[in-house]
Amino acid sequence: MRVLVTGGAGYIGSVISERLLQRGDVPIVLDNFSQGHRTAVPPGVEVVQADLADIAALRNIFGGGTVEAVIHMAAVSIVGDSVRQPLRYYRENVANLLSFLEAMMRGGCRRIVFSSSAAVYGEPAEVPISEECPAHAVNPYGSTKLMGERILADAAAGDGALRFISLRYFNVAGATRAAGEMHHPETHLIPRVLEVALGERPHVELYGTDYSTADGTCIRDYIHVEDLAEAHVLALDRTSRSSGIYNLGNNRGYSVREVIETAARITGRKIPVENCPRRAGDPPQLIASHRKAADELGWSPRRGLEEMISSAWEWRLRNPRGYTE
Ligand SMILES: NC(=O)c1ccc[n+]([C@@H]2O[C@H](COP(=O)([O-])OP(=O)(O)OC[C@H]3O[C@@H](n4cnc5c(N)ncnc54)[C@H](O)[C@@H]3O)[C@@H](O)[C@H]2O)c1
Repeated sequence: MRVLVTGGAGYIGSVISERLLQRGDVPIVLDNFSQGHRTAVPPGVEVVQADLADIAALRNIFGGGTVEAVIHMAAVSIVGDSVRQPLRYYRENVANLLSFLEAMMRGGCRRIVFSSSAAVYGEPAEVPISEECPAHAVNPYGSTKLMGERILADAAAGDGALRFISLRYFNVAGATRAAGEMHHPETHLIPRVLEVALGERPHVELYGTDYSTADGTCIRDYIHVEDLAEAHVLALDRTSRSSGIYNLGNNRGYSVREVIETAARITGRKIPVENCPRRAGDPPQLIASHRKAADELGWSPRRGLEEMISSAWEWRLRNPRGYTE
């Protein structure tokens, strides 16, 4: 299948492109390289350097009618930035999605897998969180993902016969042999912890140590990027017959302290911490129920926290400067 992977030069997109190649699909990467890296794209994959807002480029891509499906990951995704620059977030993640869908459907492409986020749930009333839990995003980033899902659901109910699968990822971590995580700036816990282990940062910030959890730090659900990639190929196949929304997590949580202790053990390095005040909108626990993805997509994650941290660590040791281009 010819699959357009938007954001395919980014962390998750590069791993998904790798997985598509492995099973004999033909990924085509669209990326503006605002965050992505050329060397993250697997060798041999066609790359279109263009912005999602570039309608002429989209017409070109979809004009020939040969793109059969899309995995749409290109987005801006830093929660704090979204609070400071909400309009930029709505333009990038919502307005661009609209024009993208129009171009896609005009080109006869009707199948899309969408990168959504646990951020749509905001501060959920209960854990584990199922897809039935009310989605009340508490920041503009989460709202843009929720709006994206709403647009897709409405488009699927309309005349265009679109089929979509929205995947609400919890915290993605880990690496493959070839591809690892490198955002600028890096806001995710595991790569930050590993930067401390490497001596690139003095300490890890613990935002809140007085939560109602066993060790007082927040609990989050982590998912290995290879398990996530597997879910995308299953979701892609599912778009041949139905639409839906699915959580992707491990069904279990780890506290920030547990992540740091596990990383200290795996790396054999000291990881100093600095206690900081709580951040607004950080719930004590976010743990996914992935039962729906298991039942309907036949997906189950196979890798735990140890494998996420050790694969990310090995990737950093092999690539001390991360991606250089
Ligand atoms: N990393 C996580 O833990 C996580 C969790 C939940 C959801 N997500 C979602 O998954 C997707 C991928 O996340 P990631 O961590 O790989 O991010 P990333 O920043 O590494 O990748 C995003 C890619 O999209 C590209 N891009 C951004 N805006 C673009 C535009 N306007 N036109 C063309 N290309 C553009 C960037 O250059 C980058 O290569 C995002 O939609 C994100 O919101 C990620």
